[in-house]
Amino acid sequence: MARDTAPEADTSASSSASTAAPSSSSFDTVVDRSRSNSMKWTFADALLAPDEAAAEPLPMWVADTDFKAPQAVLDALHDAVDHGVLGYPGGATDGYLDAVVNWQAKRFGWEISRDWVVPAAGVITSLKTVVQAFSAPGDSVLIQPPVYVHFHEDVRLNGRHLAYAPLERTEDGYRFDARTFEAAIRPDTKLFILSHPHNPTGNVWTEDELRTMGEICARHGVLVVSDEIHQDLVLNPARTHIPFASLGPEFARASITCTAPSKTFNLPGLQCANILIPDHRLREDFPVSTSAMCSRWSTCWAWSLPRRRTRTASPGWRSCSAICAATTSTSRRRSTARPRSCVCCPRTRSTWRGWTAGASGWTPRRWTGSCSPRRACGWTGARSSAPRATAT
Ligand SMILES: Cc1ncc(COP(=O)(O)O)c(C=O)c1O
Repeated sequence: MARDTAPEADTSASSSASTAAPSSSSFDTVVDRSRSNSMKWTFADALLAPDEAAAEPLPMWVADTDFKAPQAVLDALHDAVDHGVLGYPGGATDGYLDAVVNWQAKRFGWEISRDWVVPAAGVITSLKTVVQAFSAPGDSVLIQPPVYVHFHEDVRLNGRHLAYAPLERTEDGYRFDARTFEAAIRPDTKLFILSHPHNPTGNVWTEDELRTMGEICARHGVLVVSDEIHQDLVLNPARTHIPFASLGPEFARASITCTAPSKTFNLPGLQCANILIPDHRLREDFPVSTSAMCSRWSTCWAWSLPRRRTRTASPGWRSCSAICAATTSTSRRRSTARPRSCVCCPRTRSTWRGWTAGASGWTPRRWTGSCSPRRACGWTGARSSAPRATAT
């Protein structure tokens, strides 16, 4: 009887590496996604007015590029399909966990333990889980607007309130102010959701800023949830991403870090995230809450990926970063000229552009400066007014 081998069922760190050649990522190939039922391209009709949608602006409102996934990822998915049996998976393999651990060590010099890694079905799902697990209805959650729309919506959806520590708008961008930050914390503030690097301002937080945020949160007993989904896409060569929890054991103990390959390799459709939780008590509570709400198996497709991904997809990630940087600076240069059409979606406050440049999936640092003056765009910078949701 013919017997098919299981796809990528690697259970040891030393399992033989794939011999797949490094991905010749097709960054120069234009992939038409407009008819592929992608959220990015098909939501124009739902989110824009008819005349705006008719102008066919480029959808730069969501961090989803039009690049194909690295070949190693596509190969692993093909292997899984060719195996033909889509049964329940056995959980994250040793190879998977090692890939996650090694990525943090190699890229950021952060030594983490395999035990800390909790695979999860996406970062947004995990943020919601954290809100439910570590705060109670009526508590407040601290955020730094202008910030990613889900930090607003998902907290409210779960019956918690928002405590705002807005970033200060300056000539050069947005600035963290320690006094504003501490003043925003109330007795019922249980969590601080940190966007790091910050979406949409593009701020890559410095060690001093991170330490200050962490020390203030520690003084007030606030748990830090650091969303580091964009950690690999730092475009400024003078800046380095410093994982919040890598600052020291006291920062690690009082924090939960959300990571994912989805922005780095453009895999958001796989909904594969890795939540890093050094403290064992927090680590025990998080999966219990996840299990109470949903199945934990939804990332099964991704569990066969990372062994090859980290070996062969890294060159692709580097090229992707370079292309994002180039597109962003093109975007900035074009900001000074009058765009063909540039509208701000009234509901999502996000940006759609009518330029010819390809969508980078990365929000330019001073993104609000390039929006149409005919519509107010997101957070105004005024501390007294109620913050509004901004770009995704
Ligand atoms: C800051 C931030 N967090 C989370 C997400 C989405 O994460 P996921 O697709 O894993 O839920 C995004 C997507 O743009 C994001 O910008």
